[in-house]
Amino acid sequence: MKAGVLGTGHYVPEKVLTNKDMEQIVETNDEWIRTRTGIEERRIAADTEDTSDMAYNAAAQALDEAGITGEDLDLILVATVTPDQPFPTVACKLQERLGATKAAAMDISAACAGFMYGMITAQKFIETESYKHILIIGAEKLSKITDWSDRNTCVLFGDGAGAAVMGPVSDERGILSFELGADGSGGQYLAQNEDFIFMNGREVFKFAVRQMPESSVNVVEKAGYAKEDVDYLIPHQANIRIMEAARQRLGIEVDRMAVNVNKYGNTSAASIPIALSEGVKNGKIKDNDLVVLVGFGGGLTWGAVALKW
Ligand code: ACO
Repeated sequence: MKAGVLGTGHYVPEKVLTNKDMEQIVETNDEWIRTRTGIEERRIAADTEDTSDMAYNAAAQALDEAGITGEDLDLILVATVTPDQPFPTVACKLQERLGATKAAAMDISAACAGFMYGMITAQKFIETESYKHILIIGAEKLSKITDWSDRNTCVLFGDGAGAAVMGPVSDERGILSFELGADGSGGQYLAQNEDFIFMNGREVFKFAVRQMPESSVNVVEKAGYAKEDVDYLIPHQANIRIMEAARQRLGIEVDRMAVNVNKYGNTSAASIPIALSEGVKNGKIKDNDLVVLVGFGGGLTWGAVALKW
């Protein structure tokens, strides 16, 4: 039996920071941000709202959609680089808040590819029949590690959370193939140095426009499909130009790619599960669709999955 998604959820904070607002904070302008990144606005968590609070809201929705409760969970995995604190983990906080009395819990740190690492970890537990219901969450409060005086980075990021409940689905549907990778030699291009995010944008861009298209094609071929069979592409929402490179390499129409980078900016590990949850709720993802999820991030890390919905 293959492992698949039983329910999804997402949450973004109420507070909107537009590109016009950013013009008041650093020397930038709406036109520069939109044309270079596709971002128009981002969400910023309240002081009283931490990563685990956003994660909880997304998780509750995913459990509801899957028709299960916290008590049914065997494992909770939270992908984040901005946990409330190093320990206890966000996953343990959720274990308590969700009443997941029999669940194991841990955080995963693989930056923006974290949700992909989580999905594949979950798949292995499910396919070996070790566990039945696994909750995976990508949640970030990047605003707390953003240097609000650095225009190279502060315009890019936002806060939010997305979640999926995974479990056994059928022999035909579910995860068909995956690819995970890492290249620590590029670690210096994207890092949390002391308190804040540091990024060499051009180097990250070069890496991402190569890796995202390549990984997308690899998982489709490994699954035994052709590029044009892809019904829906969910790329990490970092920059519309990088996302477009992946879409064009697959040769699929614009409306078959999830785009929310305009509304939320780059929410790191949260971006793929937020887009997944939105795709389910707005009807873009339908039964039996071939869906590709692909991400890249600091580390450097990357990951992709092809799944039959
Ligand atoms: N407003 C105005 N000007 C700016 C801004 C800004 N917010 N930020 C930088 N600039 C200036 C720079 O100072 C630089 O000026 P200079 O040439 O005089 O030194 C110039 O704009 C840079 O321009 P370009 O190099 O042409 O910018 P580029 O097209 O490379 O776009 C960007 C920059 C958007 C950062 C791009 O490199 C990029 O998207 N890189 C990948 C970033 C990414 O994906 N990060 C996330 C990865 S994983 C994770 O999510 C943690």
